[in-house]
Amino acid sequence: MIRRDADGVLTADGVRLDEVAARFGAPCYVYSRGVLESAYARLRAAFAPAELRYAVKANGNLEILRMLSGWGCGFDIVSGGELARVLEAGGDAEKTVFSGVGKSRAEVEFALRSNIGCFNAESAGEVGRIAEVAAELGVCGRVALRVIPDVDAETHPHLTTGLSGGKFGIPMADAAELARRMLESRHLEFAGLSCHLGSQIREAGIFGEAAARMAELAAELERAGVPVLQVDMGGGFAVAYREGESSCDAEECGRILFSHFDSGRTKLLVEPGRSLTAAMGVLLTRVEHVKSGGDGRGKVIIVDAGMNDLLRPALYDAYHRIVPVCAGSGNGGKELGVNKLGGDVGSGLGGSGGDALVAGPVCESADILGRERDLEVAEGDLLAILDVGAYGMTMASNYNARVRACEVLTEGGEFRLIRRRETMDDLLSAERL
Ligand code: LLP
Repeated sequence: MIRRDADGVLTADGVRLDEVAARFGAPCYVYSRGVLESAYARLRAAFAPAELRYAVKANGNLEILRMLSGWGCGFDIVSGGELARVLEAGGDAEKTVFSGVGKSRAEVEFALRSNIGCFNAESAGEVGRIAEVAAELGVCGRVALRVIPDVDAETHPHLTTGLSGGKFGIPMADAAELARRMLESRHLEFAGLSCHLGSQIREAGIFGEAAARMAELAAELERAGVPVLQVDMGGGFAVAYREGESSCDAEECGRILFSHFDSGRTKLLVEPGRSLTAAMGVLLTRVEHVKSGGDGRGKVIIVDAGMNDLLRPALYDAYHRIVPVCAGSGNGGKELGVNKLGGDVGSGLGGSGGDALVAGPVCESADILGRERDLEVAEGDLLAILDVGAYGMTMASNYNARVRACEVLTEGGEFRLIRRRETMDDLLSAERL
């Protein structure tokens, strides 16, 4: 768990985060095994007997995948690279679904050779490609059709995927004909239906609307003689990033799912990403400089983590709490980063309403990590950016020739490196030809 100790120092699983930074430097991603474990247990119970297929894109660190796989979790991948990660981590290929609009022949071949659970196909062309490659290999590809439920996820436009006119999925009206054609192919097995509405969906009712449409389509296919053995409802369950914000009620989503489908007849899957890994992660960053914003505009805090380390604020205007790691005694016992699905996040320091702009070192005016924050800090102080376990490190880049941060896991009072910081040599070696 992530909380302050009696001295007001931020800890994860009992590990003082200032000690992690002293040992491994900053910027540094820290993941709490305790938080991951409780998020997994919560979602597992909320959706059981539906099975979880964790969306690897949220956080693909091998150690995270190893833990999830050890607990019985399957995976949702969107590239051959993510499949390689799942296999390297000992993940079960049979419990892996392959989503994504542009699977290459090489990726299809890799997935077929690895005998993955199923493809979630997004076009007739892709179905044809899978059939061709499967025929060349003399195997049979299991393929579910990812359809467009045409339900508005009511989220950031960049995070919406379930509407017509976008790049994802197959129109529901085309599914029956495509599925029927698939039944005729010796190299394809029709696995069922899938959808994904988008990300950071707050209302269980939105999920319910999509489940109702999926159930209608499944019934239509069955009437046409196409058995729908599996329905995958995708991911997108929102987490709370701000104090007082509510997250998606996973238990309610689970109940809705089972009101539309009979889990005895249809295998049900969900693909949570963020709701499993966001809350476990903290990005440690050190203050480089504090300066005046000029013209009475408050202060600018320049930290050593930038948009190359955490892209979400720059790309989506996303809000992440930023708190001092050492808050001084009198602040002990506060719980932070405990993102209860269906509840509120704990309160902490460093909230909004202040005059501080927190900015990274990258030469882009978009490299802002937080605006109007209430922070009193000096050069050398350590800050923690919260709820960055999902879409943090996986979206990091080498922009400005910056090496990517290291990753550390805390568990049972101990901590260890699970990905070393990149070196300049890692960056330069690919160009030393
Ligand atoms: N399944 C499919 C097919 C997906 O495309 C995604 C996310 C998920 C599951 C998992 O969604 P989640 O439960 O994590 O919301 N980079 C953005 C999020 C992009 C999500 C893309 N697809 C962010 O930082 O908010």
